[in-house]
Amino acid sequence: MHLHHPESPRRRALPAWAVVLSALTAASFAALTACGSDSSTDPGPSCPANLPEACPSPPPSYEADIKPLMAERCTPCHAPNGTGVGRAGRDFTRYDALSAHRTSVLSQVYSCNMPPREATALTPSQRSTLLAWLVCNAPNN
Ligand code: HEC
Repeated sequence: MHLHHPESPRRRALPAWAVVLSALTAASFAALTACGSDSSTDPGPSCPANLPEACPSPPPSYEADIKPLMAERCTPCHAPNGTGVGRAGRDFTRYDALSAHRTSVLSQVYSCNMPPREATALTPSQRSTLLAWLVCNAPNN
């Protein structure tokens, strides 16, 4: 049964793997540019994709901005004996622990996984302040 193959020339001109490869490349590039330093987090439609592109000048202050924000939204769980500390030691009453976990804090906050659903969400202003401070590499300022 070897008659004719009308689709063959077209397939040869644009092999399926090339299409798949270019689609994958485009998708991973889009994910990288949308998510900055962490491409594994894909914010859903209700989670804004608003990671600052660069550290603002001046950067948000740890003492004035981040500490009170942590106290309000994070340390109810991320303080000694809190449910969020875990083996990794996520005691965010301490600058050193917060700084050590800054990459996972960035991805958890950016992807709207933290604070968890049952807790009060960050306000848009708290979110942008915290994300900006993390993009600045979490200075102790
Ligand atoms: C209602 C309690 C609660 C609040 C509020 C909360 N967390 Fe958590 N968080 C948890 C729990 C529980 C875990 C998981 C702990 C474990 O099993 O190690 C966790 C885990 C995390 C992790 C690690 C997640 C991972 O999978 O790597 C990060 C980072 C984090 N929280 C950041 C934050 C930040 C930042 C805030 C505030 C904006 C916050 N959390 C607010 C309860 C909370």
